[in-house]
Amino acid sequence: MAFSNIFSRPARLVLSATVFLSLAQAHTVMTTLYVDGENQGDGVCIRMNMDGYTSNYFVSPVTSKDIACGVDGEKGVSRVCPAKTSSVLTFEFREDADDVNSRPLDESHKGPAAVYMKKVSSATDSNNAAGDGWFKIWESVYDSENDKWGTTKMIENNGHISVRVPEDIEGGYYLVRTELLALHAATANPPDPQFYVGCAQVFIESNVTNPSRPETVFIGEGTYTLDNPALTFNIYDKPMALPYPPLGPPVYKPKSNPDTTEGNSQEQTEGLKPEGCIFVNGNWCGFEVPSYNNEEECWAASDDCWRQSDNCWAETQPTGYGYCTEWSKKCEEISDSCKNSRFPGPPNAGQDITPEWKKLEEGGTEIFY
Ligand SMILES: *[C@@H]1O[C@H](CO)[C@@H](O)[C@H](O)[C@H]1NC(C)=O
Repeated sequence: MAFSNIFSRPARLVLSATVFLSLAQAHTVMTTLYVDGENQGDGVCIRMNMDGYTSNYFVSPVTSKDIACGVDGEKGVSRVCPAKTSSVLTFEFREDADDVNSRPLDESHKGPAAVYMKKVSSATDSNNAAGDGWFKIWESVYDSENDKWGTTKMIENNGHISVRVPEDIEGGYYLVRTELLALHAATANPPDPQFYVGCAQVFIESNVTNPSRPETVFIGEGTYTLDNPALTFNIYDKPMALPYPPLGPPVYKPKSNPDTTEGNSQEQTEGLKPEGCIFVNGNWCGFEVPSYNNEEECWAASDDCWRQSDNCWAETQPTGYGYCTEWSKKCEEISDSCKNSRFPGPPNAGQDITPEWKKLEEGGTEIFY
């Protein structure tokens, strides 16, 4: 029985190779959140289209409810990342979700970029993305001085967009939504404006005494239609018909230096890394196998590990195929020790074996407009 697991491994490797290839004809997907420069882990706290073949696709049609947080964006994920008022949140964009060295986006995909927030009672709950409650905290539209669109600046910034959490908002759970609009085919027939959206689940710690309530808008089905001139703007016109039409609400302006009460903040209770998690892959966790002292117990532990491996492949976000392969190395090591009667085990029991996440480049948290 244990051997059947071992023999099924090549099939998994073939699957991952196919996924790599299919993503080569790429658009972009928001894969990773950094809080104050700290990488939270690929896919961690991110709601992402779970299909590796389409995860980097644009929202279609633009009128779809998916405009809120993308395909699968109504499905809450298990993790919530902690941040504070005034924290810098940095988002990473990739053409290939699974490739940390992927280029962010094709440079032809010019257009505005924006980031929104929405207060929710629970970030891990489903069906809370589309609807009212969204406010815009940042945007980069078109910089006429340098002839650069927001998406161009994102590409030049190594695929990173950084924003500051408003300093005057109340604490609690939020969805943070990134929105890129690529206008390269906006004047095609029919027009093909391409929105790339993604959402992160965060907990904001705030000591603000009388927090502001930003004005909010509805984002969901029908928010954007082809009647909106911002969606059919011609980026190839020389000169362009500036100013670029308004897209969404104005950016929220926080009150500076709001009164705070020390220790006023609530505590995060949901979306924490689970106890005993020794391998973080997006919102998935691997747990240590039962310890073993003989061959029978060893094969039971090996089975446990491979079951988790199957579960990793079944549940991982498109950012995580390589990480599932990493987890299976632990299972191979255990299977090997069973075959060679090496007990007790597992080796390095309880040790966190999450692969190291990429460090943000120097200056990577800089906020551009
Ligand atoms: C809130 O107050 C506590 C206690 O003084 C402090 O440790 C914490 O950093 C403060 N948090 C924020 C977001 O200001």
